[in-house]
Amino acid sequence: MTTELLASTAEVGLRVARFLREGDPVALPTETVYGLAADAFNEAACRKIFAVKGRPLLDPLIVHVLDGSGAAELAAEIPAAGVALMAAFWPGPLTLVLRKRVTVSDLVTAGRRSVAIRSPAHPVFRAVLEAFGGPLAAPSANPFGYISPTTAQHVLEQLDGRIAAVVDGGPCWHGVESTIVSLLDPLRPVILRPGPISLEEIEAVVGLPVSANGSLENEAEAPGAEGVREGGLGALAPGMLTRHYSPHCPVTLFRRDELTGQLATLHPADGDSWVWLQRPPGGFGELPGQHTWLTEDGDRAVAARELFGLLRRLDGGSARRIFAEVCPEESGLAVAINDRLRRASAR
Ligand code: TXA
Ligand code: MG
Repeated sequence: MTTELLASTAEVGLRVARFLREGDPVALPTETVYGLAADAFNEAACRKIFAVKGRPLLDPLIVHVLDGSGAAELAAEIPAAGVALMAAFWPGPLTLVLRKRVTVSDLVTAGRRSVAIRSPAHPVFRAVLEAFGGPLAAPSANPFGYISPTTAQHVLEQLDGRIAAVVDGGPCWHGVESTIVSLLDPLRPVILRPGPISLEEIEAVVGLPVSANGSLENEAEAPGAEGVREGGLGALAPGMLTRHYSPHCPVTLFRRDELTGQLATLHPADGDSWVWLQRPPGGFGELPGQHTWLTEDGDRAVAARELFGLLRRLDGGSARRIFAEVCPEESGLAVAINDRLRRASAR
């Protein structure tokens, strides 16, 4: 199969919609990362997504819609907190886990009674949703477990020849995947994956305490998810999804303020690559290895946008080990950045 690289012209939505109707997944830009989209109601097409990514069938897909009315066609009910979150953050980088309607395929939800739904803001993805006229299942467009793509080139590096087309919509704005919030217990929202929309922002909108320690595995215990364990989730090894977004070369994390103490155990050498959140202060330039930084001034939005691209570049280059700086604060966007760094370093 030859993969077409499509420019984001006015007609691209119609062009992509034709591929999707044929049951061929297409990689599309979103404001977070590039996704690999297929008709959410076409099981054969969704199966191709799992096959292309090497993704286990136990890992459910996010379904993308234009707006709240698209979500209402997939979710059995939308609690007040969901309505408020949609009004505040859609279209945008927020995914809601809601009780699903029976019409949503078990393949998409991996046998759960819930479905993850988001309304992307990217104009290319929205044009495709409009031209296609139905919901699109789309995980990140990378082989399972590897770093998510934030440019069309990243997609081609790994999926060229395996998908019908990729639309080039330029670099993604946020650079990390959407925040996932479970509303299966409507009075106890749980963040399953931190992302561009912070816990603080979500709490301010729902007016309820939001817990942050959710994980895909914990969700098996949530009301509405009972019953799926024998068939599906129970087979997910704990921590299976911890190692995710991982470069091939080992990543070790450090804190700038603790680095002096850590150096004795790190044994820096020439083949090392150092990733700083911000241009390192004088003196650290003496450390052996190569030094790169995500931002000039420490801006977390810029760091998040640059992170995956830099990890990819270093992973594909000569780096033997990557040492990456974590944000000292655990609030706002730093939570998402540190989460991706920890997953990248998990072995
Ligand atoms: O920003 C994003 O969300 C990107 C773009 C393409 O939209 N998509 C994305 O999809 O990151 P993916 O498949 O790489 O990650 C989706 C996560 C998975 O960890 C999956 O387990 C979880 O969402 N998920 C999907 N459905 C779920 C459900 N019903 N309950 C709990 N978690 C769910
Ligand atoms: Mg992914």
